[in-house]
Amino acid sequence: MSDIALDVHISPEKLLEDLRSDVRQGLTATPKWLSPKWFYDATGSELFEQITELPEYYPTRTERALIEAHALDIAERTDAAILVELGSGSSEKTRLLLEAGTKYGSLHKYVPQDVSPSALEGAIAQISHEFPSLEVQGIVSDFTDTLQNLPADGSRTIAFLGGTLGNLIPDERAVFLADVAEALVEGEFLLLGVGLVVDESVVVPAYDDAAGVTAKFNANVLSVLNGRLGADFDAQKFEHVALWNAEEEWIEMRLRATIPQQVHIADLDLDVSFDEGEELRTEISAKFRRDGIARELADAGFRVDEFWTDPEERFALILARR
Ligand code: SAH
Ligand code: AVI
Repeated sequence: MSDIALDVHISPEKLLEDLRSDVRQGLTATPKWLSPKWFYDATGSELFEQITELPEYYPTRTERALIEAHALDIAERTDAAILVELGSGSSEKTRLLLEAGTKYGSLHKYVPQDVSPSALEGAIAQISHEFPSLEVQGIVSDFTDTLQNLPADGSRTIAFLGGTLGNLIPDERAVFLADVAEALVEGEFLLLGVGLVVDESVVVPAYDDAAGVTAKFNANVLSVLNGRLGADFDAQKFEHVALWNAEEEWIEMRLRATIPQQVHIADLDLDVSFDEGEELRTEISAKFRRDGIARELADAGFRVDEFWTDPEERFALILARR
């Protein structure tokens, strides 16, 4: 894949250093936690793609329908020359925006950004082939800390889709939104996809599917720690937990130790013990209300131009102007 246009803004060494420091902090804390950023090695990215096709996982298909319905409107309103997409993954839904932007005529560059090189490589190869008129320039980086280096040779829209904003804890979210606003100039846009608060009977199965794909995705983080840090987690000794935290209005994914155990993390020279039933939080996935997210966007320096939702109000696609 040597002809893939990929700028690496975070080196494998820095990524490993971040993983080491996160794991030391999270696994020595009470309760224990890990950042969802570490799910996405090549296997994790592939498992996420499988999740998007599950009958219980409504966010992807709901957001896709919203994008499909409004892509041309978005192209016209933003008149963007450059579409930057943070946490772009497979860029699957983004094709609809690229199609509309190139048809409308203003769009000449697509900049997918992700921490997972494997996801980016596949997406870039396919999109470059499908959209020969577009310049496609991928960026491998952490979206929480590398927004300063975005291209600026034309008016930009930053897309942040899929509800990934909800995977940041509230303090990180505020800093992230302010950083995105700072990376843009007045009149440029943020296109944001977020999950809305829905009934527990709908949201919990989306994170605890009958086929067990989300359970595999969750447990994969233990393989990442085994592979990258020489840990000796036995995934068979943990079970997948997905619960709705009604107070915080977020889903929490956890891994629960089914028996008492000790895990050795060789590269950190760290022993971590788990009591029977002890839980390790691996992800939050916050769901939003219209007023709350509008307020967070306003606090960051955005004005909401459009707030599109599906008829069941499960997901929102928001066009916000800097
Ligand atoms: N936007 C896509 C993919 C969502 S999955 C969609 O809507 O389907 C979340 C994506 O964000 C993954 O590809 C993951 O690798 C990426 N990601 C998670 N944390 C990240 C971080 N801190 N910096 C950059 N990318 C991140
Ligand atoms: C990427 N992110 C928005 C997904 C979500 O729904 O929070 C990740 C995911 N976790 C479990 N299933 C999907």
